[in-house]
Amino acid sequence: MALRNIVKIGDEVLRKKCRTQLTFDEKLHTILDDMAETMYAAEGVGLAAPQVGILRRFCVVDVGDGLIELVNPVIVKREGYQIGDEGCLSLPGEYGKVKRPYSVTVRAQDRNGNNIEISAEGFKAKAFCHEIDHLDGILYIDKVIKE
Ligand code: NI
Repeated sequence: MALRNIVKIGDEVLRKKCRTQLTFDEKLHTILDDMAETMYAAEGVGLAAPQVGILRRFCVVDVGDGLIELVNPVIVKREGYQIGDEGCLSLPGEYGKVKRPYSVTVRAQDRNGNNIEISAEGFKAKAFCHEIDHLDGILYIDKVIKE
């Protein structure tokens, strides 16, 4: 495993729409391993592929209850809402209030291409939404609520 550089705001790679991940091979596994290591080293709770310069649809999340890898994730259900501070490893030291669903259900694939479905609420739902937004070139600052 190896640490990867985290792309910072201003780099166009963060603003592109990512393409579907079609292969579930050793190369993907290595990138996912590196992304998890990079996320933990940076003390983040999520990291999306474009943040390490890869324009493919996958991300890693760990809000403290275990690592989750989402390949080609799609939010298929949203309920309620929450408003809370959000930050991003690509915008170090900055925070803003964002409105998110309170709970979500995500369909995705795991690293081997198996279909998975995960429901989450609260902080974990927020993290899923934030990371999946990255795959469409959307940053939390695009959604910040002015106080
Ligand atoms: Ni982020």
